[in-house]
Amino acid sequence: MNRTYRIDDGRQTLVLAARNDRLPEVVYWGALLQEDENLDTLYAAHAIDVTGGMLDENPDLSVCPEATRSFPGQPGLIVRDNDGTPLLPKFCFESFEQNGTLELTYADKDNGLTLTVSFISDPDTHIITCQTTLDATRPVHLHWLAAPVLPGPQQSDEMIDVSGRWCGEFQLSRTAWAPGMRYRENRTGRTGHEHFPGLIVPCRGATNTEGEAYAFHYGWSGGHKMIAEELQDGRRQIQWGHAARMETEAATQFKTAPLYISYSNTGLNGCAVAFQRHLRDRIVTWPKPNAPRPVHYNCWEAVYFDHKLPVLQDIADRAAALGAERFVLDDGWFGNRDDDTRSLSDWTVDPRKYPDGLHPLIEHVHGLGMTFGIWFEPEMINEDSDIHRANPHWVFGAEDQTLGRQQKALNMALPEVRDFLYERMSAILRDHHVDYIKWDHNRVLPMPDASQTRGSYALIDRLRADFPHVEIESCASGGGRIDFGILGRTQRVWLSDSNDALERLRIQHDAALFLPLSVTGSHVGPRHCHTSGRTLDMSFRAWVAAQRHMGFEMDPRELDETEAATLKEVTSWWKHNRDWMQTADILRLDSADPAVIAEQQLARDKDRFVVFAGKAATSAQIVPRPLRLTGLEQAATYRIDLINRASLHHLSRGITALKEDALELSGNYLMHHGVTLPWSFPERMWVLEGTRL
Ligand code: DGJ
Repeated sequence: MNRTYRIDDGRQTLVLAARNDRLPEVVYWGALLQEDENLDTLYAAHAIDVTGGMLDENPDLSVCPEATRSFPGQPGLIVRDNDGTPLLPKFCFESFEQNGTLELTYADKDNGLTLTVSFISDPDTHIITCQTTLDATRPVHLHWLAAPVLPGPQQSDEMIDVSGRWCGEFQLSRTAWAPGMRYRENRTGRTGHEHFPGLIVPCRGATNTEGEAYAFHYGWSGGHKMIAEELQDGRRQIQWGHAARMETEAATQFKTAPLYISYSNTGLNGCAVAFQRHLRDRIVTWPKPNAPRPVHYNCWEAVYFDHKLPVLQDIADRAAALGAERFVLDDGWFGNRDDDTRSLSDWTVDPRKYPDGLHPLIEHVHGLGMTFGIWFEPEMINEDSDIHRANPHWVFGAEDQTLGRQQKALNMALPEVRDFLYERMSAILRDHHVDYIKWDHNRVLPMPDASQTRGSYALIDRLRADFPHVEIESCASGGGRIDFGILGRTQRVWLSDSNDALERLRIQHDAALFLPLSVTGSHVGPRHCHTSGRTLDMSFRAWVAAQRHMGFEMDPRELDETEAATLKEVTSWWKHNRDWMQTADILRLDSADPAVIAEQQLARDKDRFVVFAGKAATSAQIVPRPLRLTGLEQAATYRIDLINRASLHHLSRGITALKEDALELSGNYLMHHGVTLPWSFPERMWVLEGTRL
């Protein structure tokens, strides 16, 4: 007897099938199937042949491949009994339920284990959320548990996963499929710059805008493991879970984090839009869902640890005049924090810098019409701190461990540590009118431990329950903690410590494969960038920040009149457009010129769009190649206008239509020929607005 199940979301279908009581395999995942597709026939048709040198039957590539069924690749579960004896599970069907969620339960009675896999589809976002739970009749030790295992597409030559570094997040690595496996394991204990848990498998010929692609994201902040393995018979499997051996205690239940997956037949953008919408509309919990994202001012690169009330008040005046709506007081306000060697965990206001507390600054900020945010790094402790002197046993990891930024992590699994942090942080939130926390995490952990991540989640959840109006930004030396697990508890990510607009242009372009504008912080940095040494024009810096959730982070006292005027103008453009951009889809364009990094933000009703075409380098050819747009209605007419044509350089001396005026063109033309932009220097951005007529 066969058991078959299907999940549809209007764009994709996923079919599971199993023989008798065995664990099911995903036998189809791709474009939507007809309602009356015969799943038994489909399952039969799915079987691959057997020839010499093979077992007499191909082992199932099930949702949790089992070594006991001769599966030749990596198993989906590795578990030991409490005394250390390896268990070799063999699961049999118990039950299934399908109302909204498809939930399948399998039991291994001999070993006292139960495995439950679940799939939830979302017809609006086109994300399928999958998760695996293991229950045991007595405490067992978990080595590895995969979220439901998916087949890798056969029509694909390569996979794209994500690595990076401080100031260089979201670097896409392409790896060719080959026999054997691509194994990514993050043992740093946080999501990390190096290991964003995402994967895109494009089918042959897919681009940003065309073709088929499959995408995956594991929503967990403690470090993941991914296996993309090609078996001898050519089948491919993709597994995701927490990093191995991250559960340090025996337990009777283990759960993977949710695995978010999506199939697209509109190129990588189809997957990107699914993640962007799902994150914004389903994962993030917004204190004020319809409120516009406020323009930030963050004082870090202006003053660092040197906090002086009159200087900060002056900076706040200038930031407000430029258009800022939220002032964020960064590191340096507490303990004796004059540099990064001391005081982490001493979360009381420094009376030397703030003799009358934070109130005079906060009142000043409020008087300017801005709201107030404050920086914490709750999980961390300096040896040179009162709290460390009093409670050295609160530290996570060995006493002689290597420090990171001169600091250690606290043991977040200890309830007294979480209570202490809650008390200190809630005192600040209770006694001051604060509506925003920048929550930092500036070092990797000495070892991965899932209870550390659960401890962080519990602290954030408790604070959010008691201070529901407070938004949180997830920062970890920039983009070191970005994932759907932390974003279920926060509303913004500090994508990178690089305020270099040239670097940022690339980072935010690649991050848009997973992140929408509404959560992605982007700030106008200093004229001379502190992390790259580059000097960039204000117009470029401002437009790059205007591509995402905009803010400023330079010392506004350094701005000359022209720079201030440009920044004011771009900020006001952003405020004017943010309502629709907040919910728009970010579509990466297939630029014909590799020197141009371009995207199109398209309103949900497709009536308007804005194109940002950033020139990241000098082009090989002398004049720009036409830039093809995407996602428009072929037969509709659009009015397109170059809104920053005032930045034309006198070296651009030809006659191109857009230089003179707006144009009316069909979707067909814009998507098939593309827009011909004027020549410009590198490190410049053209901004083109479009409206459907
Ligand atoms: C690292 C962050 O990424 C910076 O933005 C800043 O908040 C510093 N930490 C403060 O120490």
